[in-house]
Amino acid sequence: AAIAEVCHRRGRPLIVDEAWGAHLPFHPDLPTWAMDAGADVCVTSVHKMGSALEQSSVFHLQGDLVRPEVLRSREDLLGTTSPNVLMYAALDGWRRQMVQHGEALFDHALGLARKTRERVSGIDGIRVHGRDDFCGPGRAADMDPLQIIMDISAWETTGYRAADWLRAHHRINLHIADHRRISAQSTHADDTDTAEALVAGLTELSERRAEVRSGRPVEMPPPSTLRLEQVMLPRDAFFGRTEQVSWEGADGRIAAEMLTPYPPGIPAVVPGERLNGDVLRYLRTGVEAGMVVPDAVDTAVTSVRVVRDG
Ligand SMILES: Cc1ncc(COP(=O)(O)O)c(C=O)c1O
Repeated sequence: AAIAEVCHRRGRPLIVDEAWGAHLPFHPDLPTWAMDAGADVCVTSVHKMGSALEQSSVFHLQGDLVRPEVLRSREDLLGTTSPNVLMYAALDGWRRQMVQHGEALFDHALGLARKTRERVSGIDGIRVHGRDDFCGPGRAADMDPLQIIMDISAWETTGYRAADWLRAHHRINLHIADHRRISAQSTHADDTDTAEALVAGLTELSERRAEVRSGRPVEMPPPSTLRLEQVMLPRDAFFGRTEQVSWEGADGRIAAEMLTPYPPGIPAVVPGERLNGDVLRYLRTGVEAGMVVPDAVDTAVTSVRVVRDG
């Protein structure tokens, strides 16, 4: 709300990526959604926390800072000319389901998540993050309790390895994992069976933690060195003359590709940024520990695409 207020004081629209927030409007105990906080446009992926088919992202628009015809023409540049009617039907079905049963469904989901968080907290070596870790002055405004975020560094492994183990042994797909955490995303579609499966899988993994112990740890740089300097326009770097160099040799060069660790799916490098050794070591040691960098030309990140000198 404060960011919206600052934008509006300057006559600027606030546009929010609320990909994981399709459910937020439908229960008072969930965080405030962007439009209630005063955003002008927000984009939600109804296929994530809602019941839509994949690719069903929607815009919400309010106020007069963004004109509907302008938003529509921008979308038209990128959108398909062959929309799938099944997506529209699923979106409408979700809208109806939420109007009629949203609060009851999320009452149940929140209760189940609360119990699951308590049970998971009791498993040896897992620390479940709560509002105290993320919220407060200078930090996030709120936290979605349906995301059960766990720090497993006491197991001396990475979240990547733990997530792979749970998928292989219990067919559980976690939401995100990083160098020391895993996160289970619960939704209105969960029930006691799925919660039980999660607790059983994590309990067994706690007992068998030696199987996932990491060799070399991920070299995680401080946030300040993860922020790279943009020295060239992204399109000039991406479409210009490039070469593939060893990852060690890329230190100080200008990136010509995007490098995005999945999870969490936030680019660590975009074209036009000057690479540094910290970020390169983070990606290289991360891949060794199970991180996936799908958008790299060389997904092992043993080499990197950079702008050709001269
Ligand atoms: C914060 C955020 N924004 C956007 C996206 C992409 O959304 P979509 O699946 O609608 O393309 C994701 C996907 O995970 C995301 O986490």
